[in-house]
Amino acid sequence: MEVGHWTPDSGHRTLDLLMPETITHHPKTLPREIVRVHCVRHVYEDKTEVNLCGLDMLVHEDERVAILGSNGSGKTTLLYHLVGLLRPLEGDVHVFGIEPHRAFAQIRERVGVVLQNVDAQIVGPTVYDDIAFSPRSYGFSESQVGRMVQEMLAELRIAHLKDRVPHYLSGGEKKKVALAGALVFYPQLLILDEPFTGLDPQSRDELMDILNHFNQEHHLALVVATHDVDLVPRVADRAYVLSQHGIVAEGTPAQIFAQKELLRDARIEAPILAQLLNRLDGRDGEDLPLDVDGAAAWIKKNVTGGR
Ligand SMILES: Nc1ncnc2c1ncn2[C@@H]1O[C@H](COP(=O)(O)OP(=O)(O)O)[C@@H](O)[C@H]1O
Ligand SMILES: [Mg+2]
Repeated sequence: MEVGHWTPDSGHRTLDLLMPETITHHPKTLPREIVRVHCVRHVYEDKTEVNLCGLDMLVHEDERVAILGSNGSGKTTLLYHLVGLLRPLEGDVHVFGIEPHRAFAQIRERVGVVLQNVDAQIVGPTVYDDIAFSPRSYGFSESQVGRMVQEMLAELRIAHLKDRVPHYLSGGEKKKVALAGALVFYPQLLILDEPFTGLDPQSRDELMDILNHFNQEHHLALVVATHDVDLVPRVADRAYVLSQHGIVAEGTPAQIFAQKELLRDARIEAPILAQLLNRLDGRDGEDLPLDVDGAAAWIKKNVTGGR
């Protein structure tokens, strides 16, 4: 398998250096589709049905996509289909051209996963061993494993945690350890289930910085399931909305959060800034700025007459 020849200098980063022109222009000219979910219906053992039909969900290379929906709308179910933990009763799921429930092993090193409950995915007795788990299972030599782990520890700024027992770490630290394990092969796609839940504001910001850094510097596409709408504009270029009617909407965060009726039907609250601007004078469907600077400018222009 390709990845057997991995060295710390291989992969996208090398491509970057060799072909800066191609990489720079690629996303604008021909964004390649890496995920497609088409009209999936899932039925759990107890007959609970989850409808993920409606719009197709697509993810392209380098893209950051949020999955929005209220509790029980099917976000986790959708993510489990992407990583092959569930099999669709109807519909199709393709990730890098394969059906994950049939052959996830073929794309395992290209897809990182951070489950909602990171305790369930932390397996090593120390942070080092935990991050080393996948490289070891691929049969890399201990010196190669060491280089890969050290690089991840540095990337995520957790070198000081190397010898700690993961079980005793704080929630934010555990998230970073799980993330280091998920990113150790520099995958092209990272799937995260409610990554911000339970983190303090600083840990949340650090996590978003890491995700955006890997997106920009290492061509990592993101799929982030979250109900934390205030963070969506900071980690997503596009969002899909799930409701009991399936995948009901797609758009930029600004487009999604400007649709009051859609949000009401899907039982999603708009980000606090969108609510404020809508209350002031926002027209339904208007692209509202969702960051503090943009909102301040909008208020100056539309409400206080430039003052
Ligand atoms: N293992 C399971 N067995 C039965 N029903 C389940 C199971 N997991 C999830 N569900 C149900 O499927 C629906 C979607 O759940 P889930 O995908 O976890 O939603 P979300 O992640 O958006 O909160 C819910 O009605 C939930 O109760
Ligand atoms: Mg969930």
